[in-house]
Amino acid sequence: MGLKGNFITFEGGEGTGKSTQIKLLAEYLEQKGLPIITTKEPGGTEIGQELRRILVTGDKDKMDAVAEALLYYADRRIHMTKKVWPAMEEGKWVLSDRFADSTVAYQYYGYNKRVPFQTLENLYKLTVGDFKPNLTILLDIDPKIGLARSLDKAGHMAVKETRHESRDFTFHENLRNGYLEMAQREPERFVVLNADKSIEDLHQEIVKIVSERFNLK
Ligand code: TMP
Repeated sequence: MGLKGNFITFEGGEGTGKSTQIKLLAEYLEQKGLPIITTKEPGGTEIGQELRRILVTGDKDKMDAVAEALLYYADRRIHMTKKVWPAMEEGKWVLSDRFADSTVAYQYYGYNKRVPFQTLENLYKLTVGDFKPNLTILLDIDPKIGLARSLDKAGHMAVKETRHESRDFTFHENLRNGYLEMAQREPERFVVLNADKSIEDLHQEIVKIVSERFNLK
């Protein structure tokens, strides 16, 4: 694969403001004349949209962590082969709202390690191979604040995507701590930012990090 573009992923628990920040960063990079696409997991493709509906709506106990991990990886495989890698081959920058770190955070740490870590590593190898994001921006927030923001937003949604939000508080604490552990293990790929600040301040921090990392003038 001749992947000329860059892949930047945004991660975090519920209500961190990832999608707003991705939109702002995309606008900033486009103004610099860079070719950008924004996308998300689950749901970055047509089939992915169907998987997303299954995964994020309905009762929290309708499937377990193993079934979830398999469906998230099915979504990911289609996303990578049909959208992310083709765009990168054309030299595009791909900004993704979530990627494989979400599966480790939610299906491994969130569920208190009920899916073996090695199984998730094997699924990664099978689906993504040796490919990794060039940069992962982790938006960190106290889950009390994040969940309140997220459930507030869900009140205005046509389809209620609250399956994961409705899990107990320990789940959300586990997943936050899991993300921080993952970031410590791979400090060269991850940047951790405190997301409990204004949209504009957070955007400026992200611009600074991306500009430095990719030598943008
Ligand atoms: P979003 O609300 O950030 O778009 O993400 C959809 C939900 O899916 C969110 O609750 C996190 C969850 N999720 C997982 O549990 N595992 C995964 O691998 C991914 C990509 C998302």
